[in-house]
Amino acid sequence: MPDSLVTLAGVGKLYEPSVRVLSDIDWSVAPGERCVVLGSSGSGKSTLLSILGLLLRPSQGEVQVEGENAWMWPEKKRAAWRTAKLGYVWQDAGLLPELTVLENVNLPLHIRGIPKKKWNGQNLLERVGLGRRSHAHPSELSGGEAQRAAIARALAGSPSLVIADEPTGNLQQRQAEDICRLLLELQEELKFGLVVATHNEALIKYLQADPYWIIDGSLSSNPPEEAT
Ligand SMILES: Nc1ncnc2c1ncn2[C@@H]1O[C@H](COP(=O)(O)OP(=O)(O)O)[C@@H](O)[C@H]1O
Ligand SMILES: [Mg+2]
Repeated sequence: MPDSLVTLAGVGKLYEPSVRVLSDIDWSVAPGERCVVLGSSGSGKSTLLSILGLLLRPSQGEVQVEGENAWMWPEKKRAAWRTAKLGYVWQDAGLLPELTVLENVNLPLHIRGIPKKKWNGQNLLERVGLGRRSHAHPSELSGGEAQRAAIARALAGSPSLVIADEPTGNLQQRQAEDICRLLLELQEELKFGLVVATHNEALIKYLQADPYWIIDGSLSSNPPEEAT
């Protein structure tokens, strides 16, 4: 087993024309590790998670996967890595409205050409408490249910890294806590690396994850000092 799923070495991000969001970040996510990235809105959480998931190219530094600089790979190889290793959950569940919940969850497997008899969408829906909603359409689900379905979809390919960017951002606190508990349970059971971004520090205790704060573009394992 590699000792890191993804390593960031001296990573910085500057958006055009010259908005600096991240600078000189050294960070590594290990297999089976649980992390939470905290920071106010606009601090760079989504940018950091997109870089970690090989979705966004950093302006400086390296993103290392399997000991190699993944941005030296051809795009095809990065895409193959994302398909095989990565599950992503967004703030907006992003389910396709014309498909049933089950079809949404199985879609990543379909795209990968996995034979139908190995599609585990129904099991995953049962696991997230939606076993009886599999034939519903996304518009019939509550916000919390849609997020459960999105989590099931992210897990469909047995990813080794799951990135959840404000997965509870559209939910009430109580539902948000339930989603965090679910992510924690699934992570303990399936042992994927989990990185969750949130601006809601009250959720740390439900995720029981190692916290990191983005402060002025740097990543720190210490909380920001209270402004006096
Ligand atoms: N594609 C982009 N082009 C220019 N600026 C961007 C782009 N994406 C994000 N930003 C800016 O970068 C900063 C960090 O954004 P983001 O990573 O989305 O923060 P967070 O997820 O913490 O709210 C914000 O100021 C945002 O406006
Ligand atoms: Mg964001």
